[in-house]
Amino acid sequence: MTTPTIDTRNDQDRAKLAAGRFAADKYCFDGARLGLGSGTTSHYFVRALAEKVRDGLQVVGVPTSNGTRDLALELGITLVDLDDIDQLDVCIDGPDEIDPDGSMIKGGGACLLWEKLVARTSARMVVVADHTKAVQTLGRFPLPVEIVQFSWGTTSKAVRALLGEHGYPADLAIVRRERDGAPVVTDNGNFIIDVQLDTARDVAELTVQLNEIPGVVENGFFVGIADEVVFGWPDGSAQAY
Ligand code: 5RP
Repeated sequence: MTTPTIDTRNDQDRAKLAAGRFAADKYCFDGARLGLGSGTTSHYFVRALAEKVRDGLQVVGVPTSNGTRDLALELGITLVDLDDIDQLDVCIDGPDEIDPDGSMIKGGGACLLWEKLVARTSARMVVVADHTKAVQTLGRFPLPVEIVQFSWGTTSKAVRALLGEHGYPADLAIVRRERDGAPVVTDNGNFIIDVQLDTARDVAELTVQLNEIPGVVENGFFVGIADEVVFGWPDGSAQAY
């Protein structure tokens, strides 16, 4: 007997593609005002949406990052500014982790600020995820926290102190860096610190308390925001929950 070799990366890509296409089919109606997420799964969605636009579907989108803006424009999707509309109909975006309650960690692509702003301005948020993003407890994926450059040292220290009060070990918060060692700079000109929680506790409290620290712009916990999740599977199928 030979055991088949599973190429996880390709399986994951197939699952992301399935979730993205499913979301474009199910949630994008004529006249829809859409939040366009960031990351590879969301970009599969944007590509599937663009096919529908080429076939005559009329929508407008608000991108959650410069990367998504560039992709959408290249594919011919009409974009508007977030402040040009009161409310979006639906925002479609991907998580880094999602638990059974729909709480998420986002910001693996450093786009968490616009992602949260756009999600909060949408009547509904639909999460598009491959099967690997489902977790029982958040925290294996490091929590991104966007902080201003000016006070990055002081703010990181305050973040560590807060985590200490919640029983987390010290030295968890690390500034995210590019391959060349330079700090990652977000679309808003800020830095990101990644916090390795392992097993996240007090998620609702931390979501609020982290943002109260001077210098913290936003954190990557998305609690009570997701309305529906579409999971894609390695066999190319997808389902909404
Ligand atoms: C970017 C994000 C992404 O949505 C998240 O990282 C998921 O990305 P992918 O679909 O590539 O796995 O939060 O800030």
